[in-house]
Amino acid sequence: MDDAGHLPVMLDEVLELLAPRCGQTIIDCTVGLGGHAEAMLDAAGADATLIGIDLDESNLLKTKERLSHLAGRVRLFRANFADICDVMAEAGVSSVDAVLADLGMSSSQLDDPDRGFSFQADGPLDMRYGREGPSAADLVNTLGEAELADLIYRYGQDRHSRRIARAIVRARGREPIERTRRLAQIVAAAMPHKPTRRRKTIHPATRTFQALRIAVNGELESLERLLEKLPGIMSVGGRAAVISFHSLEDRLVKRAFAAAVESGTHRLLNRKPRTAGLDEVGENPRSRSAKLRAIERLVMSTDERIR
Ligand SMILES: C[S@@+](CC[C@H](N)C(=O)[O-])C[C@H]1O[C@@H](n2cnc3c(N)ncnc32)[C@H](O)[C@@H]1O
Repeated sequence: MDDAGHLPVMLDEVLELLAPRCGQTIIDCTVGLGGHAEAMLDAAGADATLIGIDLDESNLLKTKERLSHLAGRVRLFRANFADICDVMAEAGVSSVDAVLADLGMSSSQLDDPDRGFSFQADGPLDMRYGREGPSAADLVNTLGEAELADLIYRYGQDRHSRRIARAIVRARGREPIERTRRLAQIVAAAMPHKPTRRRKTIHPATRTFQALRIAVNGELESLERLLEKLPGIMSVGGRAAVISFHSLEDRLVKRAFAAAVESGTHRLLNRKPRTAGLDEVGENPRSRSAKLRAIERLVMSTDERIR
């Protein structure tokens, strides 16, 4: 565990694949609590600089404090990683040697009931990384039943989506759904009560909460926009790694990296996604579903050579 009480996922593998070096420009697209960022700067040694991006102001403040001893080498930006090119322009950087995106939410967000990401403790149904735009409560209380069912099916991959959407619409007719625990109870009560043979089952509301988080933050759209830009911003010899936590994300990463390889400008650093070892999973259950894919830039594209 690092100083901030947070465990950066697959840290050894990230350092091995990105191999940060002296003098490099590194971008951490999801700087969070600064665990990966600090380790990448330590591994790179003197002169490497890091641009850290996050939507969450409170995480950026924590990282600022954590990396205060490296202040001259770190610049932090509150931005969506989908706008990585704008951040680079603002930082005066035209290409990058190592890029990391460690997707999803941080432990600080999950563990803070006021952020509304979890039903383990009761809190407002919020789930916004950047605390802007419609919250999870807004979606739950305003979307039509069919839209809700589609959202839960598409982003939560829950086969009970229609049943859950019906129960939500019925419950909000009595009183708006504003709290995480109430939503979790509504979802749990909507499930068919069949005895299950599987010993370990997830809480019935887990998939609905995942779906709402993805929708509230436009997670897949942001990832797609980042992946479109990523191959083009890497320097020759530069490396990029993405850690995803569910198949919807991993599919996008796999497809985008395959397209970069197909175009002849990049190579995969690992043919199959790397996953966390048993020791790490034991220590940090969140790492169980992590998949790490990485690419390296080999040459410039024909367009760039002509320019
Ligand atoms: C899993 S945490 C990263 C943890 C970090 N690697 C560390 O070691 O502390 C993911 C972070 O990404 C941020 N985030 C999620 N989506 C984002 C987006 N589209 N743009 C910028 N930041 C985002 C979240 O606010 C969260 O702080």
